[in-house]
Amino acid sequence: MESLRGARSNVQQFRHLKLNLINTLPPSRPISRFQRDHLDQFCQDELEKKHRDKSYRYFNNINRLAGDFPRAHLSDSRHQVTVWCSNDYLGMSRNPHVLRAMDEALTTYGAGAGGTRNISGHNRHAILLEQCLADLHNKPGALVFSSCYVANDATLSTLGSRLPDCVIFSDSMNHASMIQGIRHSRAEKIIFKHNDLVDLESKLASVGPPRPKIIAFESVYSMSGSVAPVDAICTLAEKYGAITFLDEVHAVGMYGPSGAGIAEHLDFDWHRRTRPKALARPPESPHVVDVMSRVDIISGTLGKAFGGAGGYIAASAKVVDFIRSLAPGFIFTTSLPPSVMAGAHAAIEYQKANPGDRLLQQVHTRALKMELVAHGLPVISNPSHIIPLFVGDAEKAKQASDLLLWDHNIYVQCINYPTVPRGTERLRITPTPGHTEELQMKLLKALESVWIKLGLQRISDLSEEELFRQDVQPVWTDEQLSSCR
Ligand SMILES: Cc1ncc(COP(=O)(O)O)c(C=O)c1O
Repeated sequence: MESLRGARSNVQQFRHLKLNLINTLPPSRPISRFQRDHLDQFCQDELEKKHRDKSYRYFNNINRLAGDFPRAHLSDSRHQVTVWCSNDYLGMSRNPHVLRAMDEALTTYGAGAGGTRNISGHNRHAILLEQCLADLHNKPGALVFSSCYVANDATLSTLGSRLPDCVIFSDSMNHASMIQGIRHSRAEKIIFKHNDLVDLESKLASVGPPRPKIIAFESVYSMSGSVAPVDAICTLAEKYGAITFLDEVHAVGMYGPSGAGIAEHLDFDWHRRTRPKALARPPESPHVVDVMSRVDIISGTLGKAFGGAGGYIAASAKVVDFIRSLAPGFIFTTSLPPSVMAGAHAAIEYQKANPGDRLLQQVHTRALKMELVAHGLPVISNPSHIIPLFVGDAEKAKQASDLLLWDHNIYVQCINYPTVPRGTERLRITPTPGHTEELQMKLLKALESVWIKLGLQRISDLSEEELFRQDVQPVWTDEQLSSCR
């Protein structure tokens, strides 16, 4: 009773103090007027800065045609172009099996999921999709999110904030979603040089053994096409007791005998021999030594090679349950629509059983890289399916993209700062199984003409030999390509 009275008098004193304070404040304009007057001006000033430093993003109206892949029309449906920069790497967005599955789910279950996973948005499509993803990565569990941006942000921020005194080691070229997740976790972040094992090890060694450590990295880096030494990073992680978080966003569907990504590809023959059985997931075994089993958490997207939308993690049952139970990015948002999940499920099953698309994609990539290099065009070398063409100037990269679009009916978006460092602006070309030799030749001719018109640099003009050396071995070896045909 006494303490209640004390508390009341404290509240009264506080009110009195607050009133006095308010009376002594200089008269100011009402807050709402201030926001309305200044918001547009503030935005305009910020946008002008982006225009000045050439990092302003332009959006092209590209309507990709399911019936005429890889073509699209611009705002005028009569103006058709060939798309050379989509992440629908395998054309799965128009695969008939996927469309049929989506159509059926749409007709039977309607447009939307109707709620968050916990409140009416948990359904057979989510359950089946998560089982199929767990199988794909040979993990006990998987969890689907509305995108992989959300999956990375939610998982890293939850783990990093909940693991006491956690340190996260992040590759310097990591995607914004991981950077944001780490930032949101407020855990200590240590950046290691891109794909640099010596730097990573020295940084791991600098942190005491009792602290939980996470190494966050990607398998295929989308803007350079470089590929991480996943195996060696797992070895370092094991040596220093670190957890591995691997983003396979640009690798799922594209690598490995069943399309599970680079970690699967590294044990290609082993998975090829065991995978049909592994579809019924093998029991967890301490003796399993394949790279995919050594990665603790794999994240992936359903929006690139699988052609739909959504993201996921695959991990142990406990990690999955922990993230499902604690990550706001999973809990407080509407589930993906049933048709989207049904489509993703069909796409993954299709790619597990049919490697033909990813083989053809690799064949087209190799052929195009060879032609571009033969013409002296500056392909940044890498072992993956991505073809970055170096321009080195933001304005010129935009002009090159515009010329391709308006003079040659070819769409290749330019990649400028902050997606890539200033001075390394580029065109990012992504061949698909639909980019036939005829389309490749048209692209080559168009690029030749743009390079001449803008006076862009060729390999012979550039001194960074390391960036353009062409003796890099592709991830898909000749034997693997021919053994899967
Ligand atoms: C490496 C990487 N991780 C995550 C994402 C996010 O994936 P999503 O498009 O499913 O949000 C992207 C998207 O481009 C990415 O490049």
